[in-house]
Amino acid sequence: MSQETLSNLLQENRRFAPPAELAASANVTAQAYQEAERDRLAFWERQAERLSWAKRWDQVLDWSNPPFAKWFVGGQLNVAYNCVDRHVEAGLGDRVAYHWEGEPGDTRTLTYADLQREVAKAANALLELGVRKGDRVAIYLPMIPELPITMLACARIGATHSVVFAGFSSDALRTRIDDAQAKVVVTADGQNRRGKQSPLKATVDEAVQHTPSVERVVVVRRTGQDIAWHDRDIWWHDLVDRQSDQHTAEPHDAEHPLFILYTSGTTGKPKGILHTTGGYLTQVAYTHWAVFDLKPETDVYWCSADIGWVTGHSYIVYGPLANAATSVIYEGTPDTPHRGRWWEIIQKYKVTIFYTAPTAIRTFMKWGEDIPARFDLSSLRVIGSVGEPINPEAYVWYRHHIGADRCPVVDTWWQTETGAIMISPLPGVTEGKPGAAMRPLPGIVADVVDDEGKPVPNGGGGFLVVKEPWPSMLRTIWGDDDRYVKTYWSRFDGLYFAGDGAKKDDDGDLWLLGRVDDVMLVSGHNISTTEVESALVSHPKVAEAAVTGATDPVTGQAIVAFVIPRGEAGEEVDGEEFVAELRDHVAKTLGPIAKPRQIMVVPELPKTRSGKIMRRLLRDVAENRSLGDVTTLTDSSVMDLIAAKLPTAK
Ligand code: WT7
Repeated sequence: MSQETLSNLLQENRRFAPPAELAASANVTAQAYQEAERDRLAFWERQAERLSWAKRWDQVLDWSNPPFAKWFVGGQLNVAYNCVDRHVEAGLGDRVAYHWEGEPGDTRTLTYADLQREVAKAANALLELGVRKGDRVAIYLPMIPELPITMLACARIGATHSVVFAGFSSDALRTRIDDAQAKVVVTADGQNRRGKQSPLKATVDEAVQHTPSVERVVVVRRTGQDIAWHDRDIWWHDLVDRQSDQHTAEPHDAEHPLFILYTSGTTGKPKGILHTTGGYLTQVAYTHWAVFDLKPETDVYWCSADIGWVTGHSYIVYGPLANAATSVIYEGTPDTPHRGRWWEIIQKYKVTIFYTAPTAIRTFMKWGEDIPARFDLSSLRVIGSVGEPINPEAYVWYRHHIGADRCPVVDTWWQTETGAIMISPLPGVTEGKPGAAMRPLPGIVADVVDDEGKPVPNGGGGFLVVKEPWPSMLRTIWGDDDRYVKTYWSRFDGLYFAGDGAKKDDDGDLWLLGRVDDVMLVSGHNISTTEVESALVSHPKVAEAAVTGATDPVTGQAIVAFVIPRGEAGEEVDGEEFVAELRDHVAKTLGPIAKPRQIMVVPELPKTRSGKIMRRLLRDVAENRSLGDVTTLTDSSVMDLIAAKLPTAK
């Protein structure tokens, strides 16, 4: 990507100052940036002091063998002790750790004291099954309390967990179990999804036929559905219920492997991203406290992600628990049994901090603002976004209809690989701009560089890089150091290559533009799919848009857009006139160069299970090719719906 990107985002001139009251008592002030700049390592040492260490570190950072980092070298701690026991010891045993809400409406409340007992029992259970420090445990569970309990039990005994999202197929599960050579799999009979019960145990049965490393399968009873039974299987309640609720947590080395989490990537086999103990917990605890302005005594925090993604690992389990927060966990989908379910949950638990993804926000826009308007959302004070660039219109909708123009929106940029939030506004400090992740957090050094790795000036665009190691960085790709070096550290000498396009506006604030593979080259101009999508979404009748580049004999690549109309607008807008109106709208917003060659009005967009639009498949459609791999799609029938709409696709 060169510097001649479009400049529409730079013309976004809406600004939202932090609310005075929040700013006055904010956890973090502007001073934090200066402190971290003065001495970055000393800054991270102070953050590590939030945790309880059995042995203090001798060295903050060992970067003598880049890109293989060691943080808090020589230090020892136990993650589960830090997330649970120490809070109980501090007299917080009665504080609620999790308000859990099942999809069918059943609930469970776990205080920190409850969690301590449950985690100790689960740790003893794993030990009984022969799991030892350093072994890997695969976890394939829905969003039920046993999921964080099992993760913490692993952390407690020093086993490395690999959580596999419970929507993945048996094939995906098998390759992940195999790559990590997991000894035990923890699963459930089934899960509740959209009012129906779908099987999990059956998927595990299929997967473990081909994974000789697996010795035992532990099964939580969730739905009560019929399942096949094998010698290696054991019910959670038979195993765990009879364990002692006492377990002494041994400290582990700061660099002990805490978990592996697989990211699919566009090519090749999934990458097992490895995170370790001390640096990871330090940065998730700090960022959760700083970015959300967490006041653990009074806040009720809810992150709507699935624990199967890194967002759930860092901001449902480890960050919130390390901070002794009270969180909500919801098992199900947002439209079960009705489209107001999430807002009902916020009202019921008086949620004060809410963290979700742009894909969800755009879905709510599509459903219409009258739905959240029926609920009392006045408890909210900070609202966050993660997962994709948030379109300015979605940001403004979120701020207005969910945040009542009162709550700051924190648009947090990070990745599975970064482990924790890297770039984000601070709610008591930053004057927010809709669509911008703004600045690297204190202690993080990131920049936008050109093709040669040179920083671009303000107003320029290029590649997002991280310039200095950070505590929660991935340590390697499990079992493949070479691939770690090649993927992240070889594009630019000495810089971490994130794979995202970005630009710096005139104030030096950062705007993320999506994956670099998603940049189109139209008549010699670099145009990001995000920019054109945001222009489309800024039209009042558009709820969602996905843009891709298709080969074009004249312009090299041409812009092809897929749009979902907003709310009730659906029926009446499906015509040539509407398409012409949208093309003109884009031309007016971004300039004639960005006018899509084709716009197709569709009912749905293809998304990965984590909610990211699969532009690769849309490119196949736009270029009239047979579809590539659709196994990571949430719903593969979406592509049929789209194909049915496309007599005109060239
Ligand atoms: C990719 C990482 C981090 C947890 C969820 C995703 C995109 C993430 C933002 C944001 C623009 C974002 C990037 C990144 N992304 N957050 N606030 N603004 N883009 O984790 O699955 O590892 O995906 O998500 O493209 O590289 P992930």
